[in-house]
Amino acid sequence: MTSAQHHTSPSAPPPGCPAHPSDEAMPLLGPRFQNDDRARLYREMYEQHGPLAPVVLPGDVPCWLVLGYRELHQISSDPVLFSRDSGLWNQWPNIPDDWPLLPMVGKQPSILYTVGERHQRRSALVSEALAAVDQFELRAHAEQFADRLIDELCGRGSADLIAEYAKVLPALVLARLYGFSDKEGHDLVPSINDLVDGGEGALAGRDTVKAAMSTLLASRRTNPAAGVASRMLHHDFADGFSFEEIVEDMMVNIIAGHQPTADWIGNSLRLMLTDDRFAASLSGGRHSVAEAMNEVLWEDTPCQNIAGRWATRDTQIAGRHIAAGDLLMLSFAAANGDPQVRPDRTVFTSGNNAFLSFGHGDHRCPYPAQDIAEGIARTGIEVLVDRLPDVDLAVSPQALVWRPSPFLRGLESLPVRFTPTPTRTAGGLR
Ligand code: HEM
Repeated sequence: MTSAQHHTSPSAPPPGCPAHPSDEAMPLLGPRFQNDDRARLYREMYEQHGPLAPVVLPGDVPCWLVLGYRELHQISSDPVLFSRDSGLWNQWPNIPDDWPLLPMVGKQPSILYTVGERHQRRSALVSEALAAVDQFELRAHAEQFADRLIDELCGRGSADLIAEYAKVLPALVLARLYGFSDKEGHDLVPSINDLVDGGEGALAGRDTVKAAMSTLLASRRTNPAAGVASRMLHHDFADGFSFEEIVEDMMVNIIAGHQPTADWIGNSLRLMLTDDRFAASLSGGRHSVAEAMNEVLWEDTPCQNIAGRWATRDTQIAGRHIAAGDLLMLSFAAANGDPQVRPDRTVFTSGNNAFLSFGHGDHRCPYPAQDIAEGIARTGIEVLVDRLPDVDLAVSPQALVWRPSPFLRGLESLPVRFTPTPTRTAGGLR
């Protein structure tokens, strides 16, 4: 498929068709995807293009952005027609070696791009290793690290809750669950953040985390111990997978686990600090913590758009002709606000967890991973609210800046102030 083919495929409207006044492909990394009001942008795109919109990636590489709830559900429910195998992409001949989105869609030997029966075994391996995490222990770990992080800032009366809290807590808890020592976990946090930030330090960060993960797994090969890494290696299903493949899947677990959980914490705290419906929670209403977290998954979900699925043959969806090998980017953010499903977006989402924020179908976020994310995020927010009961924004809500990524939704920083309080735990993070 080329950009032009969006307009010339047999079932596409003829150029200039009055029923489709502007079926122009919009750049996914363009300025409109970087500004604050993305919810409105998705609605406008839906009105203009329907449930599937043509968009272009850097280098004028075309793909479809799936905006409709039903269509996203249908596509992710049908792995035979819409595969996770990026090798099927009909754009590979046009992709240069230094294409900036290669880390997102490139062929990687991980669970993310494995398909069919092999994916089922791999998914079971990851899920069962994560499912063995005890929820009470998980919350105890999260509480302990949350208390230590708050001890580092509570005497000061001000802090940035993204850099000093949300972007640290999930990595520390996950590292302990996987089998790293607390010192190793602490030392890995900057590299994990460099890697997920995708900036200049990303490759060095990836090398550091991968080396640490390989060392951990190698040591567990001969000395089985508690922890997710050891359980993956010694699971019955591990036989079919190489050591390198298990390292890759542990990398997915740390990368896919840390950043969205960090953003879930940050986006929920922002909501609680800026929206009157949730403000009461900061004086101790634990019920509202869960409600704010749920609202965030509908309105500011951490994983906004991901690549995606590739059509295994020519097909039709929502009146669009999809060619074999076309890339369909899944917009969880747009689908959650689909006007067909939520005509009135101001209606409170309390108690409704039909959002698509963790994906759907075979490649959805594994259920035990969702429980781990929830345990870390909820405990982290509850501990913060308990320890700093009068925490308030140190800037106006309008001064808060979202990171400019169309893929992940999270704040650059969340500056707060509070009455200084005494520390609670002895000893620092190491
Ligand atoms: C708020 C937190 C999280 C969110 C919003 C989230 C969201 C997602 C989404 C949207 C996908 C892709 C679904 C698809 O392709 O259809 C995914 C996949 C995945 N997530 Fe999560 N995730 C979160 C936390 C975690 C955590 C804590 C872990 C690990 C402990 C984890 C492990 C994974 C894995 C292994 C996959 C790949 C599944 C596969 O391809 O079979 N995620 N997640």
